Amino acid sequence: MPVSFQVRPAVQGDGAFLADMVVEAANWRADGIRPKYEVITHPDHNRYVAGWMRPGDAGFVAVDLHDHPVGAAWYRMLPRTDPGFGYVGTGVPELIIGVRPIWRAHGVGRALLQRLCEHARAQGFGRISLSVERGNFAQQLYRSEGFAVTTPGHGRDTMVKRLR
Ligand SMILES: CC(C)(COP(=O)(O)OP(=O)(O)OC[C@H]1O[C@@H](n2cnc3c(N)ncnc32)[C@H](O)[C@@H]1OP(=O)(O)O)[C@@H](O)C(=O)NCCC(=O)NCCS
Repeated sequence: MPVSFQVRPAVQGDGAFLADMVVEAANWRADGIRPKYEVITHPDHNRYVAGWMRPGDAGFVAVDLHDHPVGAAWYRMLPRTDPGFGYVGTGVPELIIGVRPIWRAHGVGRALLQRLCEHARAQGFGRISLSVERGNFAQQLYRSEGFAVTTPGHGRDTMVKRLR
């Protein structure tokens, strides 16, 4: 079945949808059922969306034919004093990505990833990072888009893509 979606820049009003995508990312396993409230109020996850959108935040949202959001990828600069899972250094944005379950495996994630990395490059960043749990197929997607594991961790890896 052909699927049609478009990608647009994220705006301030997308905060609630981005929070939903943080929950999707946290619950990536087939049996992932952590309640939304529990995920989004936890500092480990909340730091990726709190106060969206702040100076330095940037992202893209995929929308369906009715303009309903179906996925998002964004980055934010987290400080050394309150780092994300994928923190690699000051000045390196960390990306987060999620696609609504029924829209997965239709190219939305790859399209979002490419748009976000192009944007980061255009903004002058030399690198972009992320964190992925081991076993998540998303790691293959990231590798195919030029990310490489820099820091193997306990159950999760930090991956970095060079942008220039
Ligand atoms: C990871 C995620 C963002 C990818 O988005 P997506 O729209 O499903 O990905 P795409 O359709 O662009 O597929 C990208 C590649 O992954 C492959 N793929 C997609 N779903 C897959 C699956 N369930 N298992 C294995 N490979 C899969 C595709 O075949 C594609 O490769 P190809 O282009 O060579 O065919 C999305 O699946 C998701 O939100 N998952 C749950 C949350 C999550 O894990 N977030 C990332 C946390 S680090």
